[in-house]
Amino acid sequence: MSKGNVFISGASRGIGKTLAYQFVNNGFTVVGTSRTEFEYDKKLENLIPIQLDVTSRDDIKTCFNELKEQDLLPNILINNAGITVDQLFLRMKDEDWDNVINTNLNGVFNLSKIFIKNMVKNKKGRIINISSISGLMGNPGQVNYSSSKAALNGFTKSLAKELGSRNITVNCVAPGFIETDMTSFLDENTKKDLIETIPLKRLGRPEDVGKLVLFLASDEASYITGQTISIDGGLLMY
Ligand SMILES: NC(=O)c1ccc[n+]([C@@H]2O[C@H](COP(=O)([O-])OP(=O)(O)OC[C@H]3O[C@@H](n4cnc5c(N)ncnc54)[C@H](OP(=O)(O)O)[C@@H]3O)[C@@H](O)[C@H]2O)c1
Repeated sequence: MSKGNVFISGASRGIGKTLAYQFVNNGFTVVGTSRTEFEYDKKLENLIPIQLDVTSRDDIKTCFNELKEQDLLPNILINNAGITVDQLFLRMKDEDWDNVINTNLNGVFNLSKIFIKNMVKNKKGRIINISSISGLMGNPGQVNYSSSKAALNGFTKSLAKELGSRNITVNCVAPGFIETDMTSFLDENTKKDLIETIPLKRLGRPEDVGKLVLFLASDEASYITGQTISIDGGLLMY
């Protein structure tokens, strides 16, 4: 029997895809979504790929109705979809700002808004937002991205205060540099210099993030809410 329904945005690649497999391997039913159409290499009954752009409220509504019909509404929502469009602020185009905020922040609003109602009804739920240390410490060229991720920390705290009495926890995970497509643009020298600044002397792996997310989704984490937990090899300590 499935341990529960998990909805993961941005689950075709990188951290989201790893999360999808980790949750399935731990007995959950997973709906994994991404902006473009995709399939999982392993075809499993309880791993369902869906194409869904988190910026489209109409598509999210249609998806919600379909999941409701199939009894697949999530009790665990993982807001993972995210993009970077890096540029120094003076050169940043309006659309670079809008696209990043629309995906990384408005996307989290769109999904949380529609899926929370069922969690409130069931008096049980977990919302886990994938933020970034860029939102905690800033990063040149990432004013748009840092703003979107810093906003998630505030979103998480306020929502956690609203939903605590309904037995729903809301937390943020703030990864450092994780080996995915998002960091694949780093050349070998930059990577080497970067690793020197990380106390644990390596980049993170998607699985590292997955283990933390699995814990936050579990009953063992039922007294943790409103937190932003960094997972960055010690890069940012405060
Ligand atoms: N990698 C890192 O070092 C790092 C560090 C800190 C935080 N993070 C955060 O962790 C999360 C995952 O990052 P990642 O490195 O795994 O990224 P990734 O490998 O680039 O994958 C991004 C995922 O998000 C999806 N996505 C993007 N825009 C979307 C949209 N509008 N609607 C639906 N899905 C969309 C992509 O779908 P398509 O395949 O269709 O494009 C893809 O599945 C992001 O929120 C990112 O900001 C990553």
